[in-house]
Amino acid sequence: MLPGPTNVPNRVMRAMLAPIINHRSDDFVELYTDVVDKTQQVFETKNDIVALSASGTGAVEAGVVNLVKKGDKIIIPVNGEFSRRLSQLIEGQGGNVVKLETPPGENSTFDQVKEAFDNNKDVKAFYVVHNETSTGTMVNYLDKVSDLTSRNDAFYVVDSVSLLGGAPLPVDKWNIDVCMTGAQKAIAAPPGISPISVSAKAKKYMIENPPSTIYFNLARYFKFYDGEKHTPFTPALPLLYAYREALSIMLEEGLQNVFKRHKVCSDALYTGLSAMGLTPFVKKEEDRSISIVALNYLDGLEDKTFRSTLADKFKVLVAGGFGDLKGKVFRVGCMGEVSPYHVMRTISAISSTLAMMGYDVDAKAGLKTAEEKLKAL
Ligand SMILES: Cc1ncc(COP(=O)(O)O)c(C=O)c1O
Repeated sequence: MLPGPTNVPNRVMRAMLAPIINHRSDDFVELYTDVVDKTQQVFETKNDIVALSASGTGAVEAGVVNLVKKGDKIIIPVNGEFSRRLSQLIEGQGGNVVKLETPPGENSTFDQVKEAFDNNKDVKAFYVVHNETSTGTMVNYLDKVSDLTSRNDAFYVVDSVSLLGGAPLPVDKWNIDVCMTGAQKAIAAPPGISPISVSAKAKKYMIENPPSTIYFNLARYFKFYDGEKHTPFTPALPLLYAYREALSIMLEEGLQNVFKRHKVCSDALYTGLSAMGLTPFVKKEEDRSISIVALNYLDGLEDKTFRSTLADKFKVLVAGGFGDLKGKVFRVGCMGEVSPYHVMRTISAISSTLAMMGYDVDAKAGLKTAEEKLKAL
């Protein structure tokens, strides 16, 4: 129950036993074109796809170095570790960052974003972290942002590393120019493949203005794919096999069913754990993440003992807080394979751990409330 990497189904693990093939062969073309096709289905896009052999940070870095040049004005909401890191990356490229800062656990509102666009007509791009993994917030107005980016002729870039696949993010419908994710979160593949989608407009810009890097220069990937359907560098083949299998599993279940399962499971976790007396870190319900359930620690509850008891006695892994939130919150991942089994087992393990640590919690209320919510599946 970590916020990534998440559990990987056996079928996906077994896919990695396929022979290592020549990445300049027809076999590779068959594998990689299938990866691209299935990624397009999950991203709900016809845009170009690059499946980078890298962790999510690689995809995020590629999404920055290929678009941001010295002096470019970039608007970005910042409310946690990953959005801060993204804004630093942009600044490192020489970008002139207009930060919309809010405290951890709160999102900038759409009106604040609109105001930033109104005040910065010369903005080159809007960058946003869809789901702030460090605090458990999720931005729920991404569908409306393209009204602003298209009005100001700006690029629209989304880091959805910890959510894509777990909630709707129809890239074409929402006119997202560049969208990045990682395989090890809601897609439930091993870490190491990080796909990016790139619109025709962004692709043209990247080809005409390539960055000085080699590995993350996306123009190279377009050239190789448009030509021989290859990648410019040796890809992590076993991980590509696994990633393809994980995508197949999602498509077999049906994207809408996958989204619903994630939503119902996180609703059940929030309500079940709340019924036991825990409180969600994110106060406003509409800002709460579907894939990361962040909860405040009860008074005096010691982080390390709680998480190690949960892990050692009940084999349930959850994550602690980040930075200033260390020791104050814990985060339950709700993505990938997550099912009613995981939800009920987690609530039960948390209630037992709390009881072992001397806290009087109403386990029955937690389980019953969660069970009610799970009936929606
Ligand atoms: C929103 C977000 N962006 C970027 C990353 C970086 O991904 P990775 O750790 O795979 O490099 C993460 C990782 O959790 C994330 O949650």
